[in-house]
Amino acid sequence: MSSDSRVVRSVKWSRGIFWISTAFFLFCVGLFESRAADNDNEVLASELTTLMRSARAVMSENQALINDPAIGDKGLSADKVIAQAKENFKKAAGKPLPSHPAGSLAEKAQKAMLTTITEVMSRNQALINEKGKGYKGFLPAVFARQVAEGVSAKLEGQVIVKLTAPKSLIRNRTNRPDEWEHAAIEQQFKSADYVKGKPYSQTVGDNFRYITPEYYGPTCLNCHGEPKGERDISGGLKEGAKLGDLGGAISLIIIQKK
Ligand code: HEC
Repeated sequence: MSSDSRVVRSVKWSRGIFWISTAFFLFCVGLFESRAADNDNEVLASELTTLMRSARAVMSENQALINDPAIGDKGLSADKVIAQAKENFKKAAGKPLPSHPAGSLAEKAQKAMLTTITEVMSRNQALINEKGKGYKGFLPAVFARQVAEGVSAKLEGQVIVKLTAPKSLIRNRTNRPDEWEHAAIEQQFKSADYVKGKPYSQTVGDNFRYITPEYYGPTCLNCHGEPKGERDISGGLKEGAKLGDLGGAISLIIIQKK
């Protein structure tokens, strides 16, 4: 072999290495960026889920009060519910509701949720404060559905929040799981070794999807428990669920900008 051809070979060889390294480097940067974006999405989805549950817990804690026909003004103003929801958030998250950089999606989304909670509480004051009426249909799940709808509308499809449940348990058809949610519920949450309460997330095309399972507590069983088929106070049919059974899920979609 002439020394010329050896030089040509070695130049080709080092060019090859250069391009392979560059491609690998770019691949790593891409991987790192998408991981970082997924992590941001996960933190945001977790915050929104916890905030929604913290606000809904205020409705659960006050269900007996809301349904008391002897009391008019229940004192459940929007401000009070927001303050209590923030307290619950702190307990659940182990830190206060964070503040986010101005103009960020996290800031917009948090604001949308707080504003919507205020709107839902203001809109329902007359119903909640009606004297002489017991059961009012203002349930934790109804509150959560109204909040989810309001937040999704405010964020114009960039973030979608939804309350859903296993197909067999759905009472309100607007809460039906879509295909991805159905698969997450059936294949993840219902599998024997799934860690209870753990959210499940996946990036599907431009959508970051995040879903958190929820289980029936003692008060839920008044309506969702046994005996199956008997009417509950809302007039709906009890599902025959048991304490700790999977009862629903909070689902979020964050649509990633390109
Ligand atoms: C007073 C009766 C009652 C109680 C108590 C109750 N629920 Fe429900 N639940 C309902 C009704 C009625 C609906 C349908 C709400 C609607 O129309 O949006 C519902 C809806 C739901 C949904 C949404 C899916 C669907 O079926 O449309 C979930 C999830 C849910 N309940 C879970 C719970 C959990 C968890 C608890 C306890 C923390 C609970 N519920 C307590 C009556 C009740």
